[in-house]
Amino acid sequence: MADELKRGLEGVLVAESDLSYVDGGVGKLVYRGYDIEDLARGASYEEVLYLLWHGSLPGAAELDSFAADLAAEREVNDDVIETVRALADAGERPMAALRTATSMLSAYDPDAEGDGGEATLRQGRRITAKIPTVLAAFERVRQGEEPVAPDPDLSHAGNFLYMLTGTEPDAVSEETFDMALTLHADHGLNASTFTAMVIGSTMADVYSGVTGGIGALSGPLHGGANQDVMEVLHEIDASAKDPVQWVKDRQDDGGRIPGFGHRVYKVKDPRAKILEEKLRDLAESSGDTKWLDYTTAIEEYLTDQGLVEKGIAPNVDFYSGSVYDSLGIPLDMYTPIFAMSRVGGWIAHVAEYQEDNRLIRPRARYTGPEDAEFVPIDER
Ligand code: CMC
Repeated sequence: MADELKRGLEGVLVAESDLSYVDGGVGKLVYRGYDIEDLARGASYEEVLYLLWHGSLPGAAELDSFAADLAAEREVNDDVIETVRALADAGERPMAALRTATSMLSAYDPDAEGDGGEATLRQGRRITAKIPTVLAAFERVRQGEEPVAPDPDLSHAGNFLYMLTGTEPDAVSEETFDMALTLHADHGLNASTFTAMVIGSTMADVYSGVTGGIGALSGPLHGGANQDVMEVLHEIDASAKDPVQWVKDRQDDGGRIPGFGHRVYKVKDPRAKILEEKLRDLAESSGDTKWLDYTTAIEEYLTDQGLVEKGIAPNVDFYSGSVYDSLGIPLDMYTPIFAMSRVGGWIAHVAEYQEDNRLIRPRARYTGPEDAEFVPIDER
């Protein structure tokens, strides 16, 4: 068994974790025992961060002090903003800009050395607080606007929307965005979390782990899918094509349907269910049901076709883009927003793993040649 090859590490247990549990057979997700639906509807993102980082839900006083400490770390050094400006001028993609800026943040952290445990959580709090500031600044300078300074009196979700638009969000937008942050905060050992853990297992500082996590999340098989889904919906809209016809054409080309399928879920992702409901509320209150109509038509068609029954069901990305669009968030900021939320999970997993650290170092089955005879370069 030791030599059994598991491509993509599928189903391989590599650690024990108290943080989150995904039951892909029934479509259940819990953070430290709490059902995602209860947390999404009842807890703020700050409460969820506290839960993930400190092991239990906070009391009111604990939450106040935790949220104030987080909010106090929101400002970023002017040099980082200047770098963000240069990246925007160069036309850098948002996830790549975030990756570069996150790495740079460590230069201004008075204790950026990595020794695990408390240092990981301390640095992690700073990174989590500053990522929204970096992202909002990037988006604003890209639009020819000046960055908006963070407001420590606003919530994590509300402050991001404020920095992005320059206007305090209404209660529905803030609540919806906060819910989206909670839904994306953790998800077992997904590719980006595992990337952060691998880096953390070398006892490198958590800036390195988060920077690596952002890189992993940027790919279209992981966090990039939410943008792909929205691009499809825009394409359908612009071409006035029937959504079902679009799916048929994609299938004829042998392509995949973004927002469908998951390595763990074999039924509809519980996060997709909550976001679908949110999209329905937003569509009903605005009277604009376009995205809801398209996504519903695609899901119904693929369900009728038996794809969902085969285990290729809507995942979180199928509905998140439409919700962000309804909040007026630009398309290529969707994956960075995923990073802005998932950073909480990355930090929690790195800190947890480092408590009983063992360097992560798997191996590959060697399939190259044996006994190759070396020939010096001038004789080749
Ligand atoms: N559309 C059509 N067919 C699909 C899809 C899809 N979206 N996803 C999987 N399949 C088929 C695939 O063609 C394969 O069929 P066959 O066995 O006949 O060759 C079968 O399902 C298994 O696919 P796989 O690639 O071996 O499965 P995986 O566990 O490696 O894939 C996945 C998981 C997420 C990469 C894949 O479902 C996919 O590419 N989905 C589209 C991209 C997407 O929505 N990604 C977001 C994932 S959820 C958010 C996150 O974790 O970041």
